[in-house]
Amino acid sequence: MSSPPNPTSPPDSTPGQEPLIADDNPDPDRDDDSTYGSLASSSTSLASTVMRFRQENGRSYHGWKPERDMQHHVFYLTFDGALYTCPAGKEGPPLRRVLDAGTGTGIWAMDFADTHPGSHVIGLDLSPIQPGFVPPNLAFYVDDLEEDWDFSKPFDFIYGRMLAGAFTDWPRFMQRAFENLSPGGWLELADITFPARSDDGTLAADAPLARWNEHVIEAGHVLHHSVESAKHYRQQMVDAGFVNVQERLYKWPINAWPKDARFKEIGMWSEHNFCGGIYGLSVALYTRALGWTAEQLEVFLVDVRKDLKNRQIHAYWPIYVVYGQKPE
Ligand SMILES: C[S@@+](CC[C@H](N)C(=O)[O-])C[C@H]1O[C@@H](n2cnc3c(N)ncnc32)[C@H](O)[C@@H]1O
Repeated sequence: MSSPPNPTSPPDSTPGQEPLIADDNPDPDRDDDSTYGSLASSSTSLASTVMRFRQENGRSYHGWKPERDMQHHVFYLTFDGALYTCPAGKEGPPLRRVLDAGTGTGIWAMDFADTHPGSHVIGLDLSPIQPGFVPPNLAFYVDDLEEDWDFSKPFDFIYGRMLAGAFTDWPRFMQRAFENLSPGGWLELADITFPARSDDGTLAADAPLARWNEHVIEAGHVLHHSVESAKHYRQQMVDAGFVNVQERLYKWPINAWPKDARFKEIGMWSEHNFCGGIYGLSVALYTRALGWTAEQLEVFLVDVRKDLKNRQIHAYWPIYVVYGQKPE
């Protein structure tokens, strides 16, 4: 198996910390934008672009589903092909046991297992939506991480991605992760947080996209599953006893508005990811917590999607990556 060029290293710099520069001529006419058109005009071309990217980076294929794994690709772009950013496994003994908490479709766990054949990887989720055919060093389990953890042995690395809103009690998650790590083991969390922000004020407070964000935040509070959880991970890790805690902010532009080619590409993927997934992301929050009907939501989302596609709105989704180490 060929190795990806850089499977575990953090990027050289910390992208996303500086304000992003907007493209002076963002070309709102998508038909004239050849980059956009070639990447994202259909699910088929999206899928082939990602396959090419994965092959270039030494990843195996495993049955790509564009509508569900686009987000995984955006993380690939964000970390320059790395699967995680903390120092786990880069010095000292190899990572023997790795847990992907809230594994979802299992795509991160499969890529990790493929690129770390010496590690035993466990992917765990409430929902049994993972594929049956997996690398031999990977096992999926269905379980509730809010219940007691009863793993037979500790892990060297626990990873959790896009778990904002998953748990009601994050300090307890941090404590359990701490208890289930070997001395010197690492926990890393990578998560979106809300609201979307703009550094230049182009996302007006009364814009449909801004209002959508506020509703989602409010609904998360009503349901006791805050979608702002990532803002607290750093302090919660410190409180749980982790050391060498680091927090980094990455930015996912909402569309192709930035000048920089790399952020433009991340933005194109984000736009597709969110425009396609925003109903699924919103419906439970809006109907259960805020009492909207599905029809009211659909009507509102027409304008939210317009904002998501508007290149005059220089907004981005904040992505927090936070990691810490259990003392040796
Ligand atoms: C947005 S998905 C992220 C999936 C995956 N980490 C990724 O980045 O592709 C969040 C996942 O957390 C899982 N989840 C939520 N609450 C959970 C719990 N209490 N125990 C285990 N998994 C949970 C959900 O079932 C869902 O698959």
